[in-house]
Amino acid sequence: MTKKEIFNCYDQFVFPTYSRLPVIFVKGKGSVLTDIDGKKYLDFFPGWGVSNVGHCHPKVMAAVRDQVSKIIHLPNNFFGVNQAKLAREIVRHSFDGKIFFCNSGAEANEAAIKFSRLFGGGERFEIISTLNSFHGRTLGALAATGQHKHQKGFAPLPAGFIAVPFNDVDAVKAATTPKTVAVMLELVQGEGGLNIAKVEYVKALRQWCDEKNLLLIIDEVQTGIGRTGEMFAYKHYGVVPDVMTLAKGLGGGLPIGVMMAHRRVAHLLQPGMHGTTFGGSPLVTKAALGVFEAIQKDKMIKNSRAMGLYIIDKIKGMQKRFPFIQDVRGLGLMIGVELSVEGKGIFDACFENGLIINCTQGNVLRIMPALNVTRKEIDKALVILQKAFLIEANKNG
Ligand SMILES: Cc1ncc(COP(=O)(O)O)c(C=O)c1O
Repeated sequence: MTKKEIFNCYDQFVFPTYSRLPVIFVKGKGSVLTDIDGKKYLDFFPGWGVSNVGHCHPKVMAAVRDQVSKIIHLPNNFFGVNQAKLAREIVRHSFDGKIFFCNSGAEANEAAIKFSRLFGGGERFEIISTLNSFHGRTLGALAATGQHKHQKGFAPLPAGFIAVPFNDVDAVKAATTPKTVAVMLELVQGEGGLNIAKVEYVKALRQWCDEKNLLLIIDEVQTGIGRTGEMFAYKHYGVVPDVMTLAKGLGGGLPIGVMMAHRRVAHLLQPGMHGTTFGGSPLVTKAALGVFEAIQKDKMIKNSRAMGLYIIDKIKGMQKRFPFIQDVRGLGLMIGVELSVEGKGIFDACFENGLIINCTQGNVLRIMPALNVTRKEIDKALVILQKAFLIEANKNG
């Protein structure tokens, strides 16, 4: 198929739910993507937070290759070796609890919402989330998402959700009613503009949840699996969630989701109450085991901390020269660069010059390279970014 034929097929047969860039990637290795014409790009936003271990990590490839020749799918009325091992591995890295396997972040959050309703026992069902949060596109996850723009056109959404300002525990307290059952949040709002939760806020939320018998649901779909310089972002905060959701980076590129509940409350989910056909198949769980192995063997958490600080420091160093850089913030390799101008021009210039980043909320550049990104790759990316800043500066006179 030629490029033109591929674009035409999309025009005719695929919903335009995404604004796609006019590029067709055919190969990925580590932090490098190669397009159909052989042009190479540095991917500093791999798979929107999916490819934390880089594209086609050898450990993930070996795991998939091995499993695909044995068995790909098993329904969940059978036991599976890899699912058992992965559940144990996730618990080993987080807290004592039980896991429900599904296929995506939205599905994991749906499971968390349903779990909360069980916890509420039919009397309490309201969930307090935060403004600018993003929890997914299915109806429940969308209702929990604190951004009107994503909800427009899909009313009526399920009832029982209220979004309050982020980093404001008094707002959560004021929104709590006798019907409240849970507080749900991302510790670093990704899509919402790279907003980082304050330690005292999260500690106070934990305390409030304990006081009022509410579940603290932490959405680690984007922040999990080493992204923020800890295996899970909640570890920065000295608290333990009651419910945690995972997806994106866990499968190394294969679709997987997890809803995990603390053992204290895990007994609530009983046979027949929830399910999904594909959840936790032998193939995806084997790939996820490969991800854990890769992260540990290659010391990616340590690298993500060091490289994150390095990137932030370097971009902060450009602030004087480019005053439209308002703020540079991040946790591990989840980095945001807030601009006083629209970010699209900078995004476009980066792309043109072979660097993939993301721009969210119109003016926040989101930089999330693979956790095994090298200093050499970062230096190369920073040259391209600086060039894009320069183009932007010249545009503004
Ligand atoms: C924090 C967070 N939660 C949930 C989701 C939804 O995940 P998925 O797209 O896998 O449904 C996303 C996706 O970007 C996310 O960033």
